[in-house]
Amino acid sequence: MTGLSGYLGGRLAPAIEAAGHQLVDLGRPAGVDLLEPATVAAAVERLRPAAIIHTAAANPGRPEATMDTVNRAASGALAEAAASIGARLVHVSTDAAFDGRHAPYADDAPTHPLNEYGRTKAAGEAAVLAVHPAAVAVRTSLIYGVHDIDRSTAGFVARLRAGQRLALFADVVRQPVWVEALAANLVRLAVELVDERGTINVAGEQAIDRAAFGRRMLAYWNVDAEAWGGGIDDVRAADVSDAIPLDLRLRLDRAAALGLACPGVDEVLSGAAAGRSGS
Ligand SMILES: NC(=O)c1ccc[n+]([C@@H]2O[C@H](COP(=O)([O-])OP(=O)(O)OC[C@H]3O[C@@H](n4cnc5c(N)ncnc54)[C@H](OP(=O)(O)O)[C@@H]3O)[C@@H](O)[C@H]2O)c1
Repeated sequence: MTGLSGYLGGRLAPAIEAAGHQLVDLGRPAGVDLLEPATVAAAVERLRPAAIIHTAAANPGRPEATMDTVNRAASGALAEAAASIGARLVHVSTDAAFDGRHAPYADDAPTHPLNEYGRTKAAGEAAVLAVHPAAVAVRTSLIYGVHDIDRSTAGFVARLRAGQRLALFADVVRQPVWVEALAANLVRLAVELVDERGTINVAGEQAIDRAAFGRRMLAYWNVDAEAWGGGIDDVRAADVSDAIPLDLRLRLDRAAALGLACPGVDEVLSGAAAGRSGS
């Protein structure tokens, strides 16, 4: 796998091992720097994994050139290397490949990104499937967990702690995905559902607006935004920028047909709350 040190990677690694597979870190310890795509082929050739789950990415906020090299060029190089040794490849993509104006998006919906991150991820997906047509590209949504706080919520907490008010988008709709379910589905696609190719949506089945989801996550982590001095304002992304895709609901037909678990936010958080009170 790539991205072992990342948020998804941190839960994917134990999922790979729990499923009885030997884990190989195709990251910096193996000499891979995705900013230098040429380092990928040598590591793949040396380690010869049977399957690769590619989670590493340069996420929004990174310089455009970094996102282009890591998300597009290095993904293509990894796919080429995987194809050359006959390795299965599961590539992690994003709902940000879409424009948010034509939801819900089918598994094979054409990409039309609005921002640089989306553009580089869409280009990465295309680069992967061009050189490794048997690979599968998993388009997913906001990733969250109930054991480790996700990056976005952690950012909200930091701002509240600093006494700032939060502005959350009430007109932005996503299908947040539980990191444990996503990890398990990626492992299944890598080692069991090996004939699946092309693009597939894997997200939570529940659509929720960004403001409501932010509040849900803050409540889950016991953060009282008002009591901390900050507070939350609902705002409209459409008033702020035209580069934020508004409605990224995803159809989950293919995931359902394959029996991939896609629990929604309510189900995951109520299950976690029940687990907490029972322990
Ligand atoms: N988080 C979300 O809500 C979300 C939503 C939709 C799709 N996705 C996709 O899901 C995947 C996982 O996201 P995440 O949030 O878990 O990512 P993350 O926490 O930001 O982790 C990114 C990973 O990529 C690695 N990486 C970045 N640049 C690298 C480089 N030059 N060389 C080698 N490794 C490098 C990082 O390693 P270092 O720590 O060593 O830099 C880290 O392990 C990504 O493909 C992302 O596009 C995420």
